[in-house]
Amino acid sequence: MQQNKTLSISVLSGKGGVGKSNIALNLGYCMFRGGFPLLLMDCDLGLANLDVLLGIAPENNMQNLLDSDMDARDIAVHIEPGGFDFLPAASGVPELVEMDAELRAMLFRKLTPLFSRYDYLFMDLGAGITPTVLAFAAMTHVRLVVVTPEPTSLTDSYALMKVLSTQHGVKDFYVIVNQAEDKKEEDITFRRLAAACDRFLGFTPTLLGGIRLDKMVPESVRRQKPLLKLAPTSPAAQDLFALAVKLQRLHGTMGQRIAAGPFLTDVAGNFE
Ligand SMILES: Nc1ncnc2c1ncn2[C@@H]1O[C@H](COP(=O)(O)OP(=O)(O)OP(=O)(O)O)[C@@H](O)[C@H]1O
Ligand SMILES: [Mg+2]
Repeated sequence: MQQNKTLSISVLSGKGGVGKSNIALNLGYCMFRGGFPLLLMDCDLGLANLDVLLGIAPENNMQNLLDSDMDARDIAVHIEPGGFDFLPAASGVPELVEMDAELRAMLFRKLTPLFSRYDYLFMDLGAGITPTVLAFAAMTHVRLVVVTPEPTSLTDSYALMKVLSTQHGVKDFYVIVNQAEDKKEEDITFRRLAAACDRFLGFTPTLLGGIRLDKMVPESVRRQKPLLKLAPTSPAAQDLFALAVKLQRLHGTMGQRIAAGPFLTDVAGNFE
């Protein structure tokens, strides 16, 4: 087993369009600014989005890793000098949206040597409960479930956690409430979700924190520039900084366990 220092974090949601990609990108940016080398991986494999949010057109993507003998280091794009790197996904490739276990294992065998170069691996997942999403989410040390105050987002996130706990035995989740108008709405949203989990699933997720509804987020999408660069003092950017601090603390408390374990955990132990 390789010695590890990399904390793997997946960003997931039941419902689509709740803010996962923006959160993965900007939280990643905060961690990098805090001095931690970070790899941001677009795990929405056949429907890439992060390249658009970054305003870049990568020459290669993870499909090239599967189709050729390219090295993962040749695919990674340097977003910022000093250790903020990005692994692009492909766009409009349906085979990648639903990878089988063998293809997944092949991809991660090629990627694992790259992971050890970073303190954090952020995986931006596609929405929903597809086998690929579930497998990727189950592999990571930390799962960030993004939920908005909309009832459909709540029910879909509950369903996602239910499937992950029943099919993969995963019961630890951190919740980010995105797009709440204020603290009160954030609290109500989290409490609804936590109460349902507690009552029907037998575990309670942990609230990592909230990100306020902020018009600068869609503006940063339109301008294809990370919010943290475009408007670092905006309310949502401030909330993202606060979440990054909490994640760094979490990394500190999880440090020993991570150092002793594999980069990614897999039921079959494929990725050690
Ligand atoms: N805090 C926020 N305030 C206002 N708008 C937001 C906020 N967070 C996200 N959005 C908006 O929500 C939309 C969806 O965001 P994003 O693409 O990050 O979601 P996603 O969960 O990754 O979507 P998908 O499931 O399609 O991958 C974007 O237009 C973005 O501007
Ligand atoms: Mg997305």
